[in-house]
Amino acid sequence: CGIVGYVGHRQAQDVVVEGLRRLEYRGYDSAGIALVDGGAIASDKRAGKLANLEAALAAAPLPASSTGIGHTRWATHGAPTDANAHPHLGEKSRIALVHNGIVENYVQLRTELEAAGHVLASETDTEVAAHVLEAELAEAGDLSEAMRRTCRRLEGAFTLVAVDAEDPSTVVAARRNSPLVVGIGEGENFLGSDVAAFIEHTREALELGQDQVVAITADGVVVTGFDGSPAEGTRYHVDWDLSAAKKDGYDWYMRKEIFEQPRAVADALLGRWSAEGQLQLDELRLSEGELREIDKIVVIGCGTANYSGLVAKYAIEHWTRIPCEVELAHEFRYRDPILTRNTLVVAISQSGETADTLMAIRYAKLQKAKVLAICNTNGSTIPRESDAVIYTHAGPEIAVASTKGFLTQLIACYLLGLYLAQVRGTKFGDEITAVVRELELVPAKVQQQLDRCEEIYALAREHADTRSVLFLGRHAGFPVALEGALKLKELAYIHAEGFAAGELKHGPIALIEEGLPVFCVMPPKGRDQLHDKMASAVQEVRARGARTIALVEEGDDAASYADTVIPLPKVPTLLQPLVAVVPLQLFACELATVMGHDVDQPRNLAKSVTVE
Ligand code: G6P
Repeated sequence: CGIVGYVGHRQAQDVVVEGLRRLEYRGYDSAGIALVDGGAIASDKRAGKLANLEAALAAAPLPASSTGIGHTRWATHGAPTDANAHPHLGEKSRIALVHNGIVENYVQLRTELEAAGHVLASETDTEVAAHVLEAELAEAGDLSEAMRRTCRRLEGAFTLVAVDAEDPSTVVAARRNSPLVVGIGEGENFLGSDVAAFIEHTREALELGQDQVVAITADGVVVTGFDGSPAEGTRYHVDWDLSAAKKDGYDWYMRKEIFEQPRAVADALLGRWSAEGQLQLDELRLSEGELREIDKIVVIGCGTANYSGLVAKYAIEHWTRIPCEVELAHEFRYRDPILTRNTLVVAISQSGETADTLMAIRYAKLQKAKVLAICNTNGSTIPRESDAVIYTHAGPEIAVASTKGFLTQLIACYLLGLYLAQVRGTKFGDEITAVVRELELVPAKVQQQLDRCEEIYALAREHADTRSVLFLGRHAGFPVALEGALKLKELAYIHAEGFAAGELKHGPIALIEEGLPVFCVMPPKGRDQLHDKMASAVQEVRARGARTIALVEEGDDAASYADTVIPLPKVPTLLQPLVAVVPLQLFACELATVMGHDVDQPRNLAKSVTVE
């Protein structure tokens, strides 16, 4: 969910709605706003996208006010209806509250409230918190103290932001395991789930720590712990450019982000190669001694980040000879995995906020493993809580489906593998240099793929009625197949599955029927016969009526086994995902566009899922 708070000299409605627009990628099932007006709360909230709320506000404007809060929701408890949308009001409508996260003991609290005569209007855990907060306020008399008391009663992960009808000068917020930043202005202050909420007004930010409450007024920011002790956040300056968060003439952020990939890959590689011809990872924060002691690597992540981890395994084991496992963060967390001081847990997350991944790294740290984050969002929770970090430098990714985030995660994984090989001496310097030189050529090769976008778009338009698509790959092409399928599920809402091509004959081949599109990520021709084995798999599905679309290295005579050929620039097998995934991204983006779907905000999804 996305959360905004404002107090200052402007019309709070404008600031809050604009902030919500920039946070909509965090969830868009419903949106709402509450303003403090002459001793009362004025509020409106609507199911559906922010546009629905904006239309309602245009038809029936709220009174002028310079204090307000807002919310854009990704539903957890209760369907995305008007009633379940945030803000929620207390029993006497004295306070309004917005919330991100899950109150885990809400059933117990609800029972207590109902026994005390409270009537709840929605099915949400948030309304329960609102009633608790208002009851505490009646006793404490001060919203900050009431918030601290409330937080001590809540279990789970949450960010809360509230206003009190009787105190229009203040907005109070709290955070436990969910993101919250303060934007520091002049004669005004802001609250947001991330800096995008207020970046057009101020670049000065204050990151709150765990279990802290903050009260903002027009001229002040006061931070305390849940126990009331004085506390401080961490000040920082936001250095990204606002234009990076605009569409620049593209129809979708996703398409823009796909086309930004040559730049993003180049930025991810920037400054990693020293004048002495050595790889350097300045932000890493782990000593060479610590890196030499590692005897196992576990890569964790969710969604697309998990697939970049699958590619990492092929590269890291090959270059370093360190055993490397890859696991979904939420599976890893709850299965009692074996970790020691010499285990390196690599947590991949574009947003740095995914709760499943965050909980997994906390668990890994308790087990004394070392945790390295690969992350795109500076200052987000996952890198802050990790021992080490490699930032991917892709710039803000707004579209829910990850594209440049994925490519730059791959770059970071390759750099990590090569760096470990350099430190541990498992590869000769000139072998490492050769791979780095290949990586430096990748931005131009990705651009070559983008230059052929019209062919891919035409292919997508031919498939506008498709209900099912399969993807096959082997070796590093297998995660590409999985990612290609994920993109179609996310964006086109059709059945799409990726398989290891060798597995086909053990079951999935039964799915093949006349006309079924099957994308085949062909390994480059090499010494290990992978290419020829894959070509046989393609023949097998084609013989059973599939329409085969092969992604093959230039110069490979694929016409003999494929109905459609998508040429790929020459790259080493381990780096092929960097170029092979690009046509699949373009295909999914265009197919969803012709199907009439919202590409940037697919149904039921959110970009950062901050609940487990
Ligand atoms: C969500 C998004 C996915 C993303 C995943 C992991 O589910 O919809 O597109 O891959 O989270 O996100 P992260 O920010 O941790 O990389």
